[in-house]
Amino acid sequence: MTLLAVENLSVRDQAGKALVEDVSFAVAPGDRTGLIGESGSGKSLTALAVTGLLPPGLTATGEVLLDGVDMIRAPERRRTGVRGRVASVVFQEPLTALDPLMPAGRQIAGPLRRFGGLKSAALDQAVRAALEEVRLTDTDRIARAYPHQLSGGQRQRVAIAMALACRPRLLIADEPTTALDVTVQAEILDLLDRLVEVHGTALLFITHDLPVVARVARQAHVLRAGRIVESGPITSLIARPANPYTRTLVDSARRFDAALTGAGRPSQGPDLEGAGHSSHHDAPRTDDSLSGAPRTDAPRTDDSLSGAPRTGGAPRTDGAPRTGGDSSVNDLGADDPRSGGGHFEGDGGGGGGRE
Ligand SMILES: Nc1ncnc2c1ncn2[C@@H]1O[C@H](COP(=O)(O)OP(=O)(O)OP(=O)(O)O)[C@@H](O)[C@H]1O
Ligand SMILES: [Mg+2]
Repeated sequence: MTLLAVENLSVRDQAGKALVEDVSFAVAPGDRTGLIGESGSGKSLTALAVTGLLPPGLTATGEVLLDGVDMIRAPERRRTGVRGRVASVVFQEPLTALDPLMPAGRQIAGPLRRFGGLKSAALDQAVRAALEEVRLTDTDRIARAYPHQLSGGQRQRVAIAMALACRPRLLIADEPTTALDVTVQAEILDLLDRLVEVHGTALLFITHDLPVVARVARQAHVLRAGRIVESGPITSLIARPANPYTRTLVDSARRFDAALTGAGRPSQGPDLEGAGHSSHHDAPRTDDSLSGAPRTDAPRTDDSLSGAPRTGGAPRTDGAPRTGGDSSVNDLGADDPRSGGGHFEGDGGGGGGRE
């Protein structure tokens, strides 16, 4: 069964204006699919509709089947059952997903305890493994830190650890690196790339940035003004963009690349321009720059990647307010993590949050 099947999805506002229109695509287990488009093109609304989390006032029509569950019409209880377990989301701003009043370790401990049945030392160990899996060092300090005490990159790593704690089959990443500086962005992309590979997680990666989507996705759908204007393997979209809008995306990425790598050096021109020639059609990647941000060369830590226990369920840990305001796909209305045993339930108690 296709993991995610979206057919003729439209999202309308209260006035009946279509914000997303007639969008169809599918994600099979293990697929890496990109949704790319400019700001306001409907990327986030598509992700929210897919997870059944559209804000009040917006309505979806068409069909969204996530692991066979109708995410538009099924009762909320059924839809909640697939969120977190089947699909998790990582947002652009990790503070959206993280509870500002709870130490990072406890936030990760929630799903590990609830769905993995872990407590005490085993829970501590699993939290540490989850932090190591997202390449965080100094795990004791990070586990005790509140979100505001972490850097943006560290917060995003914690959010990724939470999203993956329940080993979802689909990870939806909505501009997960846009708020980060370019070096951290490359590291986070590399991390996501490795984690979905290791765990066989399907990826729906949302971005406005063509080189970024080229870095992580194998196929992509180009959204413009709420409609998909072109779809295909990412290499073909870059080498032979058929739609004028896709062409402008490719051209501006190439101009940017030329400015960075070959300013004033004519030798760069023919190579980049040549990506549209038929001789490039079978190339797995078009060129270094459009294949995305550089990979970091950090050694692969397979031990830690396999070390975290497989658990089910939701990473969201309690009902405390979040800064982002909107609901998260990872929010399954889970019970209070403070009720359980273990090291990470004990510290903080929610009272030491942001100033
Ligand atoms: N709750 C809402 N009510 C009415 N219109 C909305 C709502 N949320 C989003 N929109 C509109 O729907 C369109 C698509 O928004 P969406 O957030 O999906 O864009 P996006 O592609 O994710 O953009 P960005 O790259 O800036 O995140 C925009 O025109 C936006 O103003
Ligand atoms: Mg968005």
